[in-house]
Amino acid sequence: MIWQSGAETGSDGTGRRPWTEASLRELHQRLLAARLSYRPPEHLLTELNEEYRGFVANHDGKSGYYQWLALLVRELAPGLILELGSFLGVSALMMLSELGEQSRLVCCDVEPNFAFFPEHARRDPRVRLIVGDDTDLAIFGEHVPQAMDLLFIDTEHSLRQVEAEWSIYQHLCKPGTIVVLDDIRLNDMGQFWERVPYPKLDITEDCHFSGFGMFAYEASAYPNPALAWEAARWVARLRGR
Ligand SMILES: C[S@@+](CC[C@H](N)C(=O)[O-])C[C@H]1O[C@@H](n2cnc3c(N)ncnc32)[C@H](O)[C@@H]1O
Repeated sequence: MIWQSGAETGSDGTGRRPWTEASLRELHQRLLAARLSYRPPEHLLTELNEEYRGFVANHDGKSGYYQWLALLVRELAPGLILELGSFLGVSALMMLSELGEQSRLVCCDVEPNFAFFPEHARRDPRVRLIVGDDTDLAIFGEHVPQAMDLLFIDTEHSLRQVEAEWSIYQHLCKPGTIVVLDDIRLNDMGQFWERVPYPKLDITEDCHFSGFGMFAYEASAYPNPALAWEAARWVARLRGR
């Protein structure tokens, strides 16, 4: 099953106000306002080449998501972030730049990328860089991330992959987890986006020309690693592993 029921969770015991489309929109507007005076974190971007410096600076107005992600972390102060698909590490570095002292950032890529991660960031005890296929939870060893406050999915940009990922990682989210999805207008990704039954916001115009959206996992289900493992086994079977 891909989707949980989208039941509202006013009573999850935390006193948290459930996200709505309106509150996501307000959040996004605050981030856009903050972006006007934003300065990139130079101490973390020392390894970037000129091309990626341009993307972070958002010179052409097509990749504003890098700054937006940093500001999202500043605003939400998430305790745990999971990134699926890190590539050279630029989005991870942007989120790291605003990460709280007690918070953690887990990044995963199927290839040993992270080429722009400076040595001091690799040694940061708040950061975990994982190499492996994200549909195989064994890549996380004994510490499978769960109850993330923020999940950023940016891997293969296909319906098949994002459905497989969500079938697994939804069971590791908690009510209110903010899920950010890149490239929702690439390939057949739009079908996934259209089916998201939670409060959501398509912010492509402000963030990334290939499509960008966020939704709030406002479901009644709490993290259930056993279900996540079951879904991962199911995906592995489907893929003949
Ligand atoms: C577009 S890049 C990520 C870019 C990065 N998030 C950024 O914004 O700077 C997509 C990455 O997803 C990785 N990827 C693809 N399939 C994956 C999988 N099954 N598990 C983990 N990573 C995967 C690729 O190796 C690639 O590095």
